[in-house]
Amino acid sequence: MDLVSTDAAEDFLLRLNAALGDAAGDFQPQVLAECDSSNAWLARRANYLPDGALLVALRQTAGRGRMGRSWFSAENDSLTFSFFWRPPPATQLSGLSLAVGVALVDALESLGARELVLKWPNDVLWQDKKIAGILVEAPAVGKVIIGIGINLRSPKAASSNFPEEIKEKSIALDNLISPASYPPEKVLAVILANLRLALKNFTQLGLVVENWQKKCTHLDQRVSIIQQDGSLQNGICRGINSNGALLLETAQGIQHILSGDVSLRTS
Ligand code: BTN
Repeated sequence: MDLVSTDAAEDFLLRLNAALGDAAGDFQPQVLAECDSSNAWLARRANYLPDGALLVALRQTAGRGRMGRSWFSAENDSLTFSFFWRPPPATQLSGLSLAVGVALVDALESLGARELVLKWPNDVLWQDKKIAGILVEAPAVGKVIIGIGINLRSPKAASSNFPEEIKEKSIALDNLISPASYPPEKVLAVILANLRLALKNFTQLGLVVENWQKKCTHLDQRVSIIQQDGSLQNGICRGINSNGALLLETAQGIQHILSGDVSLRTS
């Protein structure tokens, strides 16, 4: 059962509506103090949600990551939200999550963050540490949920439910920009503006390969692709194609790696 919004959620909604200004009507934002997963919450309501519906969860009890992993976010120190999109009929969705990654990096850079890069398919990294993750899901034809989790502030040791090994591989936005200048609702408003534009462009142009490759941290580097069963495929990352598949140069030629159930690491 979803818990009732607390004062913190209502406060956040007020600040978010102010930050969104006229655009607030487009997103009809809702803020929950707690839910299982903002992606799952929207998915359960996908039959009647309007295009553009936004859910911000101040706390997720079962945040979801790619490949069936959990997504941990430090309470009060992260931004976790999901956006509901009804793409025009026949929109080809492959590559969408990579286009969202580009939009997210552009948004954070417009706030002053520098040297952000993308690790295929859509992890946002700074100096090899993860700052944000994206999970795009399509619960039914014509319904897409774009979930984004961003580490805003380095979790305080005592208050954090972060597993230690994830903490070591993570970094927060407050290392890159001043949290005083950019409170969470402002960060979110900027991301949403970029996301909306990116989705419009995506429906017209599909994934713009060059835009993603410019930010790719592994371009022309040796990498390993790890299948879910743990097996490895080694090669050189030669970028992506317009479906978002990774082009892996191997002794057998270029292999097209689909993002579904694999992950990548430097070899
Ligand atoms: C990943 O890097 O594995 C993707 C992480 C996506 C996390 C976000 S947080 C908001 C939304 N709700 C979820 O349950 N997951 C996404």
